[in-house]
Amino acid sequence: MKIIDYGIRDDEKPYLDEWVKKNNVEVKAVSDLLTEDNIDLAKGYDGVIAYQQKPYTDGIFKKMDEFGIHAFSLRNVGVDNVPAESVKKYNIKVSNVPAYSPSAIAELSVTALMALLRRLPRFENKMAKGDFRWAPDIAQELNELTVGVVGTGRIGRAAMDIFKGFGAKVIGYDVFRNPELEKEGIYVDSLDDIYAQADVITLHVPALKDNYHMLNDDAFSKMKDGVYILNYARGSLIDTDALIRALDNGKVAGAGLDTYENEVGIFDVDHKGKKIDDDVFNNLYARDNVLITPHAAFYTTKAVKNMVQISLNNNKSFIENGKADNEVSFD
Ligand code: COI
Repeated sequence: MKIIDYGIRDDEKPYLDEWVKKNNVEVKAVSDLLTEDNIDLAKGYDGVIAYQQKPYTDGIFKKMDEFGIHAFSLRNVGVDNVPAESVKKYNIKVSNVPAYSPSAIAELSVTALMALLRRLPRFENKMAKGDFRWAPDIAQELNELTVGVVGTGRIGRAAMDIFKGFGAKVIGYDVFRNPELEKEGIYVDSLDDIYAQADVITLHVPALKDNYHMLNDDAFSKMKDGVYILNYARGSLIDTDALIRALDNGKVAGAGLDTYENEVGIFDVDHKGKKIDDDVFNNLYARDNVLITPHAAFYTTKAVKNMVQISLNNNKSFIENGKADNEVSFD
């Protein structure tokens, strides 16, 4: 059995080597991201593994089909960049890694909120200029706030547990309700209830056609004044122009963002000495009440190890048995 793994970074290699030793399977690690230009390298392999934020194009799957490869495993969870029609047309089985570390994402979202509530970026900026005064940067305590968690899957639930640990009141909304949380009485009936009640709104849902720009002018207008917004899910969930308007008029007091709708080409790129050519992004980036990380919530040793090794298990299982634990359905 031979597997080709695209976009492998140096920090992933030790976990890949460990898996290869244990499983005695030939795995070729390619540092470039998977494109139509390098899919030819997969000829002669039985399975393909990849991770990237850029969309996978039809031509990639057409070639895989020509090479007799029908096992495609993602090292990440999101499948929004996989064209459903193409994988169905070429009969390609797809798996993801749905739970490489829910706490990795949850922990960063809470960290950002705490930094915003305690005004850390503002103190840092002031102190760098020699101003060590407290005012006007009085903080809010999380134990006095209501946190509205949108999406109560694994990541949303991990976030809820941490927020509860800080003593926050937690409410949740999801079209699919978790029975345990239901028993705890955590759910509200609608997003409008979240908007009306929450001091902090944190998004933990996948990107779907239905939730594109779910946080838009209308949604912001229904929220409490001074609400905090956390997006550690997908950039497309927020209409960024609307967020900027809401920050300008004080509706939103601060935002923690690990995703941005036009992040491809901006995140995980070295921009040293260069100006980022995106005025909307630069607007957000200049604010000391917006904390941006470059889609790095997943980037922990635990998560990376799981992403590498679980995707290899999935791909091996597709090749050996035609099925895998984490097969994704595109129906
Ligand atoms: C995902 O797992 O889908 C993510 O968003 C993290 C990715 C940047 C590795």
